[in-house]
Amino acid sequence: MNITVLNGSPKGKQSVTLQSVNYISKHHPEHIVETLHIGQNIKTLMEDETAFQETLDTIAQSDLVIWATPVYVCLVPAQYKRFIEKIFEEGHADLFKGKYAAIVTTSINFFDNCAVDYLRAICDDLEMNLAGSHAADSYDLLNKEGQTRLQLFASQLFKDIERGSTFGGRVYPLDYSWHVYTAGEATACVKAPDKKILLLQDTHYEGTNLGRMVDRCRKNFDQKVETVTLSELNIKGDCLGCIQCGFDHQCIYDGQDDFIPFSKTTLAEADIIILAGEVKDRWLSSTWKQFFDRSFFQNHIPALKGKQLGLLISGPLTQMTALKATLDAMTEWQGAHVVDTVTDEVEESTFIDARIDTMVRRLADCAQSGYIRPATFVGVAGRKIFRDDVWGRHRFVFQADHAHYEDNGLYDFPHDDAFSLKISQDMIHLTQDPEMRQTVRKMLKKEMVKPHIKVVESVE
Ligand SMILES: Cc1cc2nc3c(=O)[nH]c(=O)nc-3n(C[C@H](O)[C@H](O)[C@H](O)COP(=O)(O)O)c2cc1C
Repeated sequence: MNITVLNGSPKGKQSVTLQSVNYISKHHPEHIVETLHIGQNIKTLMEDETAFQETLDTIAQSDLVIWATPVYVCLVPAQYKRFIEKIFEEGHADLFKGKYAAIVTTSINFFDNCAVDYLRAICDDLEMNLAGSHAADSYDLLNKEGQTRLQLFASQLFKDIERGSTFGGRVYPLDYSWHVYTAGEATACVKAPDKKILLLQDTHYEGTNLGRMVDRCRKNFDQKVETVTLSELNIKGDCLGCIQCGFDHQCIYDGQDDFIPFSKTTLAEADIIILAGEVKDRWLSSTWKQFFDRSFFQNHIPALKGKQLGLLISGPLTQMTALKATLDAMTEWQGAHVVDTVTDEVEESTFIDARIDTMVRRLADCAQSGYIRPATFVGVAGRKIFRDDVWGRHRFVFQADHAHYEDNGLYDFPHDDAFSLKISQDMIHLTQDPEMRQTVRKMLKKEMVKPHIKVVESVE
C-alpha cells in the first residue's frame, strides 16, 4: 500500500506525532510510506507552485492518507490549516475523493477531540473514506500500553483497508445558501464608561455581510472602539512549536514583529473584545488560527481572564460543531465570558440588527457588572488538565506558568483542601459504625441542601 503522511507539525522530522507514524511504519515494512512535512514547509508550499504540485502528485499516488498532526490550541496548527484552505480554494478536493484516510494526533489531551472533529469534517468534505483516528497523549509512545494500542490501531486500519471496508461521514456538507444582510440605522447609544473596547478582525470585510455587521456593531457604541485587523499587523510568522517561551513567556519572535507588543498592550488592556471572522472550510481562517497559536507564548496563563467577548461570525456556525466547541474551549478555561455570538445565518436583516444591538448592550452591561458566566465542564476540566500538567510532568518546560500558578492560587488541588479532608476523614470514621451509617444515609439529602437553604433564608 502507498501511504502518504501529511505531517502537520512545524517541527518536521523532530515532530513527536510523527514518531507514532514512524513506529507504525517500522512494524509494517510491507507498506511504502512517504512523509510530507506540510507544517514545516508551508511557506514554500504556499509560494512555490511546483512544490505544491509535487505534494498533490504524491497524494494522488497514495492508497491511504494519514493526517498526522499535533494539536495546537484546540485545533491543528495554523500552517496545516493554511494548506487545507489552499486545497479547497484551488479546487484540489477531487484528488482526495474516495481515498482512505486516517488521523493521528498527539497532545496533552486538551480538546484534542476538537482537532479530531475538525479533521474528520475536512475528510468528509473531501469525500474521503476515513478509516480511523488515534488521538494519543504525547508520551503514550513511551510506554508499553501506548505502543500496544498504537499497533492495534494500525493493524485494524490496514486490515480494514485491505478488506475494502466502507466508512460513513459524520457531518453533512455545509449549506451556504446565503442572503444579503442589509444593516438598518444604528443607534449609537451604548456606553461602557471607562471600558476599553477592541474589535479584532482577521481581514477587512467591507462590502460583505460581515463588514456590515462589524460596522453596525461599532456604530452602536457611543465611544471609541479600537479596530485591529490581523492581516495588517506585522506578524512575522506562525508559532513554530519550539516552546522556548515556556521558561519566561518570551517568544522567539520577541522584538521582531508587532504581535507580542499588541498582545501585551492593546489586547491585554481591552475590557470588551469583539472577534469578527468568516467561516473558512470548517473553522475560521488560518489568519485567526495564527493569532491563537501565537498567543501561546503566554502558555497556560489565563490571559483573557475577566474579559467580555462578543463574536461576529459570517457563515454556517450552527452547522459547525468543531468551531463552536473550540471557541468555547479557548475562552472558558481562561475565565473569559463569551457574552453573545451573532451570525448572518438567518434571513431577516432586522433580526440580525436586533441581535447585534442586543450583543452590544449585553457586552456593555456585563463589563459594568463584572458578570462572567460560570465555567462548565469545558472550562473546569480544561483548567484541571493545565494545572496538573504544569504542576507535574511539564513544570520544567513551563517554569513561568508554574510561578504564575503558585503566585495566583491556581494550584487548587483537592488534596490541599484541609477542611474537606478533615470532614471526610471524620465522617468516614463515624460511618464505620453500622447503626450510625444507617442514620447518616437517611440524613444525606437534607444535610446537603441545608447550607444552601440557609443562604437563601438570609436574603432580606
Ligand atoms: C503552540 C502549542 C499549542 C498547543 N496546544 C495544545 C492544545 O490545545 N491541546 C493539547 O492537548 N496540546 C497542545 N499542545 C501540545 C502539543 O500538542 C504536543 O506537545 C504534541 O505532542 C506536539 O507534537 P509535535 O512534536 O508533533 O509537534 C500545544 C503545543 C504547542 C507548542
